Amino acid sequence: MSKPEKFIEDGIRLDGRKIDELRPIKFEVGILNRADGSCYLEMGGNKVVAAVYGPREVHPRHMQKSTTAIVRYKYNMASFSVEDRKRPGPDRRSTEVSKVSRQALEPVIFVEKYPRSVIDIFVEVLQADAGTRAAGINAASVALADAGIPMKCLVSACAVGKVDDTLVLDLNKDEDNYGQADVPVAVTPGGNITLLQMDGHLTSDEFKTGLEMAKKGCADIYKLQKAALMAKYSDDTEGGSNE
Ligand code: CDP
Repeated sequence: MSKPEKFIEDGIRLDGRKIDELRPIKFEVGILNRADGSCYLEMGGNKVVAAVYGPREVHPRHMQKSTTAIVRYKYNMASFSVEDRKRPGPDRRSTEVSKVSRQALEPVIFVEKYPRSVIDIFVEVLQADAGTRAAGINAASVALADAGIPMKCLVSACAVGKVDDTLVLDLNKDEDNYGQADVPVAVTPGGNITLLQMDGHLTSDEFKTGLEMAKKGCADIYKLQKAALMAKYSDDTEGGSNE
């Protein structure tokens, strides 16, 4: 799509959302049998799967730490996930996304409980529509909980950005492509920020307001993460259909 003339008309965005509205979100917990924990997430047009393995033995062994577990995060975009086929395999962007996503989750994991081991997190993007790093973190956080990894809390993520000189929550693809700023944020329920990046320009007032918008979006996502976990585990305790 070429750049639209206007992104917002009478307070409504081109996809019908208000400026502070998230895209529709759907979590599904425990979708992979072989992983210790897993989660499928749809966040607008994004479709991602997160799988967690561990704590388990570290290979290669020289990577192990004697006092804590290490956390590895591998973000990968399927070649069919974007409009132009993505060349398979790692690239600069996926290396960066993997690194910042790991750093967004590591602070909430009790790594000191598992010396000499590794917690592996894999995120596969099946369909990308802007905000995949946030979607990956949301799914990975739930998958970690599903794996029973001891954590201080969940982490929730979404982006805030600017189009038509207006701050908007959870950018879609066109807003991301042609907008003036994109600020992915991850926070704990207590409001501690574990990811904050900025592409583009915001004034310091816009930044402050935008951060509050993103935190509110994350608080709403947190409720959905918790509800998805409760749905799975309350079924289990009642002898429900989950294996
Ligand atoms: O996905 P996220 O917003 O976290 O990261 P980005 O680097 O800002 O990418 C924004 C969007 O560009 C992605 O979500 C994809 O929809 C798209 N993209 C693409 O079409 N082809 C790529 N090779 C990489 C990203």
